[in-house]
Order: sequence, then C-alpha cells, then structure tokens
Amino acid sequence: MQVAIDGPAGSGKSSVCKIVAEKYSLTYIDTGAMYRSIAWLSVHFGEDNLAAKAENTEFILEDNGRKISIKYNGKIYDLTKEIRTPEISSKVAFVAADSDIRKILVKKQQFYAEGSDVIMEGRDITTVVLPNADIKIFLTASPEERAKRRFKEWEGIDKASEYTKVLEEIKKRDEMDMTRKESPLLQSEDAVLLDTTGLSLEQVADKIGEMIISYKHNH
Ligand code: DC
Repeated sequence: MQVAIDGPAGSGKSSVCKIVAEKYSLTYIDTGAMYRSIAWLSVHFGEDNLAAKAENTEFILEDNGRKISIKYNGKIYDLTKEIRTPEISSKVAFVAADSDIRKILVKKQQFYAEGSDVIMEGRDITTVVLPNADIKIFLTASPEERAKRRFKEWEGIDKASEYTKVLEEIKKRDEMDMTRKESPLLQSEDAVLLDTTGLSLEQVADKIGEMIISYKHNH
C-alpha cells in the first residue's frame, strides 16, 4: 500500500506521518530530508556537479524515518541533525529547484517505494513520484497556524517580533515552493484536501487512519 502526502512547510506532514507509519506498519519516507542531504553535500563537498554527487549518494533510512545517513565516496555520514540547521534550510530551496537533481531523487524515491508499504511525504509525491498511490492527501493549514506551530518549538526569544518573522518566512517559502518551474507544490485533482487548522496531530493522524482502514476494507 502506498500513502502519498504533499503539503507546505509546517503543515505537520512529518509528525503526522511518523504516528501513522507506526500505527499501520508503513515505512516512512521523508523526501525533504533527501533534498536537505544534497544541500549538505553542496556545503561540504562543493556545489559543482551536484547532480552527479546526488546520483552517487546512497541514502540509508533507519529507525523508520527518524534517522537519515548517506553513503558518499565510500564513507557513511549520519545527517539526522546536520540537515536541520538554518544554513541547510536556506540552501535547500535552490537544490530542490534543480531539475537534474529532482530527476535523480525522484527515481530513488520511486525505487524505495516499490513493492513495499510506504507513507511518503514531500511536495511532489502525489503528482510526480507516486501519482498512482492508493491514498493521496494534500495536507495544509493556514499560514498563521503553521507559524504558530513552528513558533511553539522555540523558547526564550522575543516572541512578538519573532512570530511576525516566522510568518513572513513561511509565506515566502510557500510562494517559492508553489511558483517554481520544476514540480511546484500543488494539489492534484484526485488528492484529498486535509486542512489541519485547529486540529491536533493525533486528530489528523486519526483522519488519515480512517482513510487507510476504509481503503483496506474495499481492497
Ligand atoms: O519538507 P522539508 O522542509 O524538509 O523540505 C525541504 C525542501 O525541499 C523544501 O524547500 C521543499 C523541498 N522539497 C521538494 O521540493 N520536494 C520534495 N518532494 C520534498 C521537499
């Protein structure tokens, strides 16, 4: 069974996917982490021939999506924490806009999904990577709600001014993800729109769980 989920930054995709993966014994694949890993490669090994570097990278997904390592030039690098820095976050949009890199990563993602029960999330999973997935969901929430969620994770900062900054960043990233030429983030016609504004992670996970149960019941 294949569950494909797309949605903007901060829509809760990864947290929800982890819960659903656990509950329904699915392999969780975070494709954003793959783009982030290539951004990390560009920082540490140079931006030249990045597509070739991506081709030669083996992704090692462990602990059901909680850990990501890569094998590059015969060496293994645990990137679980390294890919979550502001530096990588600012670099990754450019990596994700490169059509050669996208082609390579899409192929690898399709290979990982083949013949297994997966829940895969990103920006182009329902449209490009797994257009024939059994369940296709477009997860979203208002920009204000998404900024609030990001913001809750931070402590000890000047909250009022930081909230405005986070909200602006989220809107800017939405704009970049939705208007880029290569595989922009969009809701495919046959994807179910799931607006998570005002819902808890567990409530969203329950809604996806209901879709999985209903699919299994009918097949
Ligand atoms: O979900 P995330 O924030 O970890 O994603 C990192 C970046 O990669 C973000 O700019 C969107 C991009 N991305 C993409 O273009 N296609 C995907 N399938 C997944 C992520």
